[in-house]
Amino acid sequence: LTDGRGAADQSARKRFGLWLFGARGGLATTAVLGARALARGLTEPIGLVTETAPCSALALRTLGDVVFGGHEVRSVSLREAAGEVHRLSRTIPSALIEAIHDEFDELDADVRPGTLTNAGATIERITADQLDPIAAADESLRATCDRLSADLVAFRERHDLDGVVCVLVTSTEPQLRFDQRHATLEALDRAIDADERDAVRPSLLYAYAAAEAGCPLVHFTPSNAAFAPAIREKLDRAAVPYVGSDGKTGETLVKSALAPMFRHRALKVLSWQGYNMLGDRDGAVLAADDNKRAKIESKDSLLANILGYPLHTHVGIDYVPSLDDLKTAWDFIHFEGFLGHRMTMQFTWQGADAILAAPLVLDLARLIEFAHRSGEKGPQHQLACFFKRPIDGGPHDLHMQMQALWDWVAQHAS
Ligand SMILES: NC(=O)c1ccc[n+]([C@@H]2O[C@H](COP(=O)([O-])OP(=O)(O)OC[C@H]3O[C@@H](n4cnc5c(N)ncnc54)[C@H](O)[C@@H]3O)[C@@H](O)[C@H]2O)c1
Repeated sequence: LTDGRGAADQSARKRFGLWLFGARGGLATTAVLGARALARGLTEPIGLVTETAPCSALALRTLGDVVFGGHEVRSVSLREAAGEVHRLSRTIPSALIEAIHDEFDELDADVRPGTLTNAGATIERITADQLDPIAAADESLRATCDRLSADLVAFRERHDLDGVVCVLVTSTEPQLRFDQRHATLEALDRAIDADERDAVRPSLLYAYAAAEAGCPLVHFTPSNAAFAPAIREKLDRAAVPYVGSDGKTGETLVKSALAPMFRHRALKVLSWQGYNMLGDRDGAVLAADDNKRAKIESKDSLLANILGYPLHTHVGIDYVPSLDDLKTAWDFIHFEGFLGHRMTMQFTWQGADAILAAPLVLDLARLIEFAHRSGEKGPQHQLACFFKRPIDGGPHDLHMQMQALWDWVAQHAS
């Protein structure tokens, strides 16, 4: 694996922490096991952008330098979580689980109870039968914020880490309606002190804790609360780099690569219908309208941006339990060519969700850790290619986004 440490400063020799909010979900589990397998040379670095040639010019930390921890609301061990992924989707081979089982206790020791405060009925229901008693306990908002950030600080100190990068991979929450309490950090702190629980969601509390502990943040889910204006103010004041939101891994990735073709050839797209089907826990959460809305908004926002004109679009997401993690999408594109002649293009996508997303989580952790070490702070627009809803917008065209990343890499090459 890429090890740019020889060219970098000596501080690159220290390990860094990767803290996953949602630490025992399908995506987090695949990322942890995948990283440990890569570090031991048990698998190839396929799907990792940071293992491609341009990134070898960066003094990135290796995956062997990563110490994992996280917050989770269910009492499940890594073995149980990995077993569930294997049973349902076979994406994590049992031989791999056995090969690294000697690390499981150590990896479980750094998972702490999270919070379910105002997570909404669907997430409460789906996590209920395995709920961790501490995550479920009644605690004031201020106490929760203090507990979460103290966990991050203790993790950093316990392992003598150079820094800790936080990645949010919890279940998709219902959108939070922003009001004056989210407009400034001062107003949000007042609401937290007054224990106004309707003003928060778990993702907001996690982002708050990350900023409080001085940790860079990667927001990989569509939950809007994590980037409330007051939270962005807190992250800016903490002078940490942050980026999001909603990892671009499947159907939307294809759209953002394909739509530019229609634009470049001056073909007029009239309609773009996209239907997604998925199973597993993520699918069960997205079956609820409130939670689904967040996802649909981030999946539907890119076509007009890329094509430059309004068009008829539709994004459907249906829960199909038997599919488990094998997300299936069918896209139907109706377009017009020379002489107004109408034609169609269709594609189907069948992707194992966590297999596509886990390497991105590892890429993002390494890149934002490097950005932090290089003194960068605030929104990291160069990482927009990884997201369905890039922070502060910008072009959605995958090719333009990749060029922005390569330009940044060239500027930082050592
Ligand atoms: N391709 C992908 O897999 C992909 C792409 C983009 C975004 N995402 C997003 O990533 C997230 C995780 O996806 P997944 O497939 O791993 O789902 P999952 O349901 O398997 O995992 C979510 C985990 O978060 C935990 N959790 C829920 N609420 C929590 C809270 N408040 N605090 C701590 N932990 C909490 C759950 O117990 C579960 O272990 C989802 O929001 C999903 O939409 C996934």
